[in-house]
Amino acid sequence: MNNFKIIANWKMNGSKEEVKSWINFFKDNVEHKNHSDCFFCPPACYLNNANEIISSYNLKLNLGSQDLDPDSDNPSTGGINGKMLKDLGCDYVLIGHSERRSLFSEDEEVLLKKLTSAVKHELKVIYCVGETKEQKERGLATEAIKIQLKILKGLPVDLISVAYEPVWSIGQGITPSLDSIDEMHQIIKDELKSILNTEENIAISYGGSVSVDNAASISLLNSVDGLLIGGASLNPESFSKVVNNITIQD
Ligand code: PGA
Repeated sequence: MNNFKIIANWKMNGSKEEVKSWINFFKDNVEHKNHSDCFFCPPACYLNNANEIISSYNLKLNLGSQDLDPDSDNPSTGGINGKMLKDLGCDYVLIGHSERRSLFSEDEEVLLKKLTSAVKHELKVIYCVGETKEQKERGLATEAIKIQLKILKGLPVDLISVAYEPVWSIGQGITPSLDSIDEMHQIIKDELKSILNTEENIAISYGGSVSVDNAASISLLNSVDGLLIGGASLNPESFSKVVNNITIQD
Protein backbone atom coordinates (compact mmCIF):
# COMPACT_ATOMS: atom_id res chain seq x y z
CA MET A 1 0.00 0.00 0.00
CA ASN A 2 1.24 3.48 -0.80
CA ASN A 3 1.32 6.23 1.81
CA PHE A 4 1.86 3.80 4.67
CA LYS A 5 2.32 6.09 7.68
CA ILE A 6 5.21 5.62 10.08
CA ILE A 7 4.97 8.05 12.96
CA ALA A 8 7.68 8.74 15.55
CA ASN A 9 6.13 9.94 18.81
CA TRP A 10 8.96 11.13 21.04
CA LYS A 11 6.68 11.98 23.98
CA MET A 12 8.60 14.05 26.61
CA ASN A 13 12.05 13.02 25.42
CA GLY A 14 14.97 14.44 23.49
CA SER A 15 17.11 17.56 23.27
CA LYS A 16 18.03 20.03 20.54
CA GLU A 17 21.15 18.01 19.82
CA GLU A 18 19.24 14.72 19.63
CA VAL A 19 16.68 16.24 17.27
CA LYS A 20 19.51 17.29 14.98
CA SER A 21 21.30 13.95 14.99
CA TRP A 22 18.02 11.99 14.58
CA ILE A 23 17.05 13.98 11.48
CA ASN A 24 20.57 13.66 10.09
CA PHE A 25 20.43 9.91 10.56
CA PHE A 26 17.02 9.81 8.89
CA LYS A 27 18.36 11.78 5.93
CA ASP A 28 21.31 9.44 5.44
CA ASN A 29 19.56 6.13 6.11
CA VAL A 30 15.88 6.42 5.32
CA GLU A 31 15.03 9.27 2.97
CA HIS A 32 15.15 8.11 -0.70
CA LYS A 33 15.08 4.45 0.36
CA ASN A 34 11.45 4.05 1.31
CA HIS A 35 8.00 4.79 -0.03
CA SER A 36 6.31 5.33 3.28
CA ASP A 37 5.14 8.60 4.70
CA CYS A 38 7.28 9.29 7.76
CA PHE A 39 6.20 11.62 10.53
CA PHE A 40 8.27 13.17 13.29
CA CYS A 41 6.48 14.32 16.47
CA PRO A 42 9.06 15.77 18.88
CA PRO A 43 8.09 17.81 21.96
CA ALA A 44 6.53 21.17 21.04
CA CYS A 45 9.61 23.11 22.19
CA TYR A 46 11.69 21.43 19.44
CA LEU A 47 9.22 21.78 16.57
CA ASN A 48 10.74 24.97 15.23
CA ASN A 49 14.21 23.57 15.46
CA ALA A 50 13.14 20.35 13.71
CA ASN A 51 11.30 22.31 11.02
CA GLU A 52 14.40 24.37 10.22
CA ILE A 53 16.57 21.28 9.85
CA ILE A 54 13.97 19.38 7.77
CA SER A 55 13.53 22.41 5.49
CA SER A 56 17.26 22.99 5.12
CA TYR A 57 17.65 19.45 3.72
CA ASN A 58 14.39 19.60 1.78
CA LEU A 59 13.30 16.30 3.34
CA LYS A 60 9.93 14.66 2.83
CA LEU A 61 9.70 14.03 6.58
CA ASN A 62 6.34 15.33 7.89
CA LEU A 63 6.27 17.29 11.10
CA GLY A 64 3.56 16.68 13.69
CA SER A 65 2.72 17.97 17.13
CA GLN A 66 1.91 15.62 20.02
CA ASP A 67 -0.93 17.88 21.14
CA LEU A 68 -2.60 21.25 20.69
CA ASP A 69 -4.68 23.53 22.85
CA PRO A 70 -8.13 24.52 21.65
CA ASP A 71 -8.67 28.09 20.50
CA SER A 72 -10.05 30.18 23.31
CA ASP A 73 -11.29 33.72 23.84
CA ASN A 74 -9.88 33.59 27.37
CA PRO A 75 -6.22 34.25 28.15
CA SER A 76 -4.54 30.80 28.22
CA THR A 77 -1.12 30.83 29.84
CA GLY A 78 1.09 28.15 28.36
CA GLY A 79 -1.32 27.37 25.54
CA ILE A 80 -0.22 26.48 22.00
CA ASN A 81 -2.98 26.60 19.39
CA GLY A 82 -3.33 25.24 15.89
CA LYS A 83 -2.35 28.51 14.23
CA MET A 84 0.93 28.52 16.13
CA LEU A 85 1.61 24.90 15.18
CA LYS A 86 1.07 25.71 11.51
CA ASP A 87 3.46 28.63 11.94
CA LEU A 88 6.08 26.17 13.25
CA GLY A 89 5.76 24.02 10.13
CA CYS A 90 3.40 21.35 11.48
CA ASP A 91 0.84 19.81 9.20
CA TYR A 92 -0.21 17.05 11.59
CA VAL A 93 -1.29 16.73 15.19
CA LEU A 94 -1.90 13.79 17.51
CA ILE A 95 -5.11 14.17 19.50
CA GLY A 96 -6.43 11.89 22.22
CA HIS A 97 -3.28 9.96 23.07
CA SER A 98 -4.04 7.77 26.09
CA GLU A 99 -1.37 9.55 28.15
CA ARG A 100 -3.12 12.88 27.51
CA ARG A 101 -6.47 11.27 28.34
CA SER A 102 -5.23 9.84 31.64
CA LEU A 103 -2.48 12.21 32.88
CA PHE A 104 -4.14 15.44 31.73
CA SER A 105 -7.75 14.33 32.21
CA GLU A 106 -8.66 15.00 28.59
CA ASP A 107 -12.20 13.77 28.18
CA GLU A 108 -14.39 13.68 25.08
CA GLU A 109 -15.56 17.28 25.67
CA VAL A 110 -11.98 18.63 25.70
CA LEU A 111 -10.95 16.39 22.82
CA LEU A 112 -13.82 17.59 20.67
CA LYS A 113 -12.66 21.19 21.20
CA LYS A 114 -9.14 20.15 20.18
CA LEU A 115 -10.41 18.34 17.09
CA THR A 116 -12.53 21.31 16.04
CA SER A 117 -9.61 23.70 16.52
CA ALA A 118 -7.25 21.43 14.58
CA VAL A 119 -9.51 21.15 11.54
CA LYS A 120 -10.23 24.90 11.65
CA HIS A 121 -6.50 25.45 11.14
CA GLU A 122 -6.37 22.66 8.54
CA LEU A 123 -4.11 20.46 10.58
CA LYS A 124 -4.38 16.77 9.71
CA VAL A 125 -5.41 14.85 12.77
CA ILE A 126 -4.16 11.48 13.97
CA TYR A 127 -6.83 10.67 16.55
CA CYS A 128 -5.74 8.02 19.07
CA VAL A 129 -8.13 5.49 20.54
CA GLY A 130 -7.64 2.34 22.57
CA GLU A 131 -9.06 0.26 25.38
CA THR A 132 -7.61 -0.08 28.88
CA LYS A 133 -6.61 -3.44 30.37
CA GLU A 134 -9.73 -3.44 32.50
CA GLN A 135 -12.00 -2.74 29.55
CA LYS A 136 -10.34 -5.53 27.62
CA GLU A 137 -10.71 -7.99 30.49
CA ARG A 138 -14.38 -7.10 30.91
CA GLY A 139 -15.06 -7.60 27.20
CA LEU A 140 -15.74 -3.88 26.73
CA ALA A 141 -12.94 -2.99 24.31
CA THR A 142 -15.10 -2.48 21.22
CA GLU A 143 -17.67 -0.47 23.12
CA ALA A 144 -14.98 1.79 24.66
CA ILE A 145 -13.46 2.49 21.27
CA LYS A 146 -16.79 3.23 19.64
CA ILE A 147 -17.46 5.84 22.34
CA GLN A 148 -14.06 7.43 21.67
CA LEU A 149 -14.73 7.50 17.92
CA LYS A 150 -18.17 9.09 18.23
CA ILE A 151 -16.81 12.64 18.60
CA LEU A 152 -15.41 12.51 15.07
CA LYS A 153 -18.95 12.90 13.69
CA GLY A 154 -19.20 15.80 11.26
CA LEU A 155 -15.45 16.35 10.92
CA PRO A 156 -13.94 16.52 7.41
CA VAL A 157 -12.95 13.06 6.18
CA ASP A 158 -9.80 14.32 4.42
CA LEU A 159 -8.29 15.66 7.67
CA ILE A 160 -8.89 12.62 9.85
CA SER A 161 -6.95 9.43 10.43
CA VAL A 162 -6.98 7.19 13.50
CA ALA A 163 -4.35 5.36 15.53
CA TYR A 164 -5.48 2.27 17.42
CA GLU A 165 -3.34 2.02 20.55
CA PRO A 166 -4.42 -0.49 23.20
CA VAL A 167 -3.51 1.27 26.47
CA TRP A 168 -2.31 -2.00 28.03
CA SER A 169 0.23 -2.41 25.24
CA ILE A 170 1.80 1.07 25.18
CA GLY A 171 5.35 0.97 26.52
CA GLN A 172 4.86 -2.54 27.96
CA GLY A 173 6.63 -4.67 25.37
CA ILE A 174 3.43 -6.63 24.72
CA THR A 175 1.21 -6.42 21.67
CA PRO A 176 -2.13 -7.95 20.74
CA SER A 177 -2.01 -10.93 18.37
CA LEU A 178 -1.99 -10.07 14.68
CA ASP A 179 -5.55 -11.42 14.44
CA SER A 180 -6.75 -9.12 17.23
CA ILE A 181 -5.09 -6.08 15.65
CA ASP A 182 -6.71 -6.94 12.33
CA GLU A 183 -10.10 -7.49 13.92
CA MET A 184 -10.02 -4.20 15.84
CA HIS A 185 -8.85 -2.24 12.79
CA GLN A 186 -11.75 -3.69 10.77
CA ILE A 187 -14.20 -2.72 13.49
CA ILE A 188 -12.79 0.83 13.57
CA LYS A 189 -12.89 1.15 9.78
CA ASP A 190 -16.54 0.03 9.66
CA GLU A 191 -17.48 2.32 12.52
CA LEU A 192 -15.78 5.30 10.86
CA LYS A 193 -17.71 4.76 7.65
CA SER A 194 -20.93 5.20 9.56
CA ILE A 195 -19.73 8.02 11.88
CA LEU A 196 -18.17 10.05 9.08
CA ASN A 197 -20.86 9.04 6.59
CA THR A 198 -18.36 8.01 3.97
CA GLU A 199 -17.40 5.00 1.87
CA GLU A 200 -13.79 6.18 1.95
CA ASN A 201 -11.21 4.01 3.63
CA ILE A 202 -9.93 6.05 6.61
CA ALA A 203 -6.29 5.24 7.44
CA ILE A 204 -5.80 3.39 10.72
CA SER A 205 -2.32 3.12 12.23
CA TYR A 206 -1.42 0.66 14.95
CA GLY A 207 0.51 1.80 18.05
CA GLY A 208 1.67 0.01 21.21
CA SER A 209 5.10 -1.57 21.66
CA VAL A 210 5.96 -1.54 17.97
CA SER A 211 9.57 -2.67 17.64
CA VAL A 212 12.15 -3.61 15.04
CA ASP A 213 11.07 -7.24 15.55
CA ASN A 214 7.30 -6.92 15.13
CA ALA A 215 6.86 -3.89 12.83
CA ALA A 216 7.12 -5.75 9.53
CA SER A 217 4.58 -8.44 10.40
CA ILE A 218 2.07 -5.90 11.77
CA SER A 219 2.50 -3.76 8.65
CA LEU A 220 1.60 -6.70 6.42
CA LEU A 221 -1.96 -6.82 7.76
CA ASN A 222 -4.34 -5.40 5.16
CA SER A 223 -6.20 -3.33 7.70
CA VAL A 224 -3.06 -1.60 9.01
CA ASP A 225 -2.23 1.63 7.19
CA GLY A 226 0.54 2.85 9.46
CA LEU A 227 2.46 2.50 12.71
CA LEU A 228 2.65 4.93 15.63
CA ILE A 229 5.91 4.30 17.44
CA GLY A 230 6.96 5.61 20.84
CA GLY A 231 9.96 4.02 22.55
CA ALA A 232 11.47 2.45 19.42
CA SER A 233 11.36 5.77 17.56
CA LEU A 234 13.78 7.53 19.89
CA ASN A 235 16.80 5.68 18.65
CA PRO A 236 17.39 6.74 15.04
CA GLU A 237 18.84 3.34 14.15
CA SER A 238 15.77 1.43 15.36
CA PHE A 239 13.42 3.85 13.67
CA SER A 240 15.27 3.61 10.36
CA LYS A 241 15.33 -0.19 10.63
CA VAL A 242 11.59 -0.26 11.19
CA VAL A 243 11.00 1.97 8.17
CA ASN A 244 13.44 0.21 5.87
CA ASN A 245 12.19 -3.29 6.84
CA ILE A 246 8.64 -2.55 5.83
CA THR A 247 7.68 -3.84 2.44
CA ILE A 248 5.29 -1.51 0.75
CA GLN A 249 2.55 -3.47 -1.00
CA ASP A 250 0.85 -2.04 -4.06
P1 PGA B 1 5.32 2.69 22.53
O1 PGA B 1 4.39 4.00 22.52
O2 PGA B 1 5.71 2.41 21.11
O3 PGA B 1 6.50 3.07 23.39
O4 PGA B 1 4.51 1.59 23.09
C1 PGA B 1 3.45 4.21 21.50
C2 PGA B 1 2.68 5.46 21.79
O5 PGA B 1 2.39 5.74 22.95
O6 PGA B 1 2.33 6.21 20.86
